[in-house]
Amino acid sequence: MTTTRTTATPTLPGGAWTLGDLPVTRFGYGAMQLAGPGVMGPPADREAALAVLREAVRLGITHLDTADAYGPHVTNELIREALHPYPATLRIATKVGARRDADGGWPPAREPDDLRRAVHDNLETLGADTLDLVNLRLGDATGPRPGSLATAYETLVELQREGLIRHLGLSNATAEQVAEAETIAPFVCVQNLYNLAHRRDDALIDRLAERGVAYVPYFPLGGFTPLQSATLSAVADRHGVRPTAVALAWLLHRSPNILLIPGTSSVAHLRENVAGAGLTLTAEDLAALDTIGGAPAATP
Ligand SMILES: NC(=O)c1ccc[n+]([C@@H]2O[C@H](COP(=O)([O-])OP(=O)(O)OC[C@H]3O[C@@H](n4cnc5c(N)ncnc54)[C@H](OP(=O)(O)O)[C@@H]3O)[C@@H](O)[C@H]2O)c1
Repeated sequence: MTTTRTTATPTLPGGAWTLGDLPVTRFGYGAMQLAGPGVMGPPADREAALAVLREAVRLGITHLDTADAYGPHVTNELIREALHPYPATLRIATKVGARRDADGGWPPAREPDDLRRAVHDNLETLGADTLDLVNLRLGDATGPRPGSLATAYETLVELQREGLIRHLGLSNATAEQVAEAETIAPFVCVQNLYNLAHRRDDALIDRLAERGVAYVPYFPLGGFTPLQSATLSAVADRHGVRPTAVALAWLLHRSPNILLIPGTSSVAHLRENVAGAGLTLTAEDLAALDTIGGAPAATP
C-alpha cells in the first residue's frame, strides 16, 4: 500500500495524512447530516448547509466525505454549490454500492452496471472530471455482511484504470473482505463504524496502520444515537469540555491512521469539534475511556 503519514499541519488537530498521493488533514468533515431527515431530500435550511461546507474549508479542512446516495444527490450538489471550483488542496471522498429506495432504504447496488452508473452520477453531481477517492460500500444497513467483493471491486479497479477514480477504498467491510481486496488491487482507506463504544474493528485498525492504510470511522460521535456514557461524561467534566470533544480527541489518539469525518449541520458544532479534538488526554483518561467499548486495545 502506498499511503503514508506526513508532517503534521499546525492548524488542525491531528495534523495530516496522505491518501495514496493526496495529502489531507486528519480532521475532515462528513456531509451526510446536511441532507433532509432520514438522509432524504433537501436540508431544511439550504443556506445554513452551504455555510457549514464553506466554514469547513475556511477552517483548513481538506477532506470531505459524501455519497451521491445522500439525499440522493443532495449533499454532492450542496458541495458543488458551496465550493466549486474546488480549492486545489480539497479532496472529496465518495462512496458507491448502495442506492436509495422510495422508503429511504439503502438497498445494495453493486452490480457492475450499478457501480458504473454511480461513478458517473458522482462525477456529474460533484462537477468533477475525476473522483479523488471512491469507497466501495459493502454490507447493508445492519452492518458488514460476509461474501466476496471481487466482482464489484474489480469493476471499480476498471473505472480507476479508465481515469475516473484516483484512489479506491472500502466501506462497511469485514476483515475478510479487506484481506480479499488486498489480493486484487491497492486501496487507501477503510471506512467502517467505529467509536469509543463500538470497537469491533480494533484489530483491523492496527493491521491497517501497519500497512499505512487509513481507517476512517463513521459515526465517530455515535451517529443518529449520540454517544452516552457516565465515564465519557466524567472525563469531559474533568477537562471542562463536551463529551464530543473527548470522543474525537480519543479517536485521533487511538491510532495515527485514523482520519476523522464527524458530521454536523451546524457551523457552531463544526467549530466546537475542531477545537475540541485538540484536547490532550491523560493516561488516567485513556485508561477510563478504554473501559467503555468493553474491548481494551493497545493504543500507541
Ligand atoms: N460508509 C458508511 O456506510 C457511512 C455510514 C454513515 C455515515 N458515514 C459518513 O460518516 C460521517 C459521520 O457520521 P455521522 O455524521 O452520521 O455521525 P457522527 O459524526 O457520529 O454524529 C453526527 C451527529 O452528531 C451531532 N453533533 C456533531 N457535533 C456535535 C456537537 N459539537 N455537539 C452536539 N452534537 C453534535 C450532529 O448534530 P448537529 O447536526 O446538530 O451538529 C449529528 O446529529 C457522515 O457524515 C458520512 O459522511 C458513512
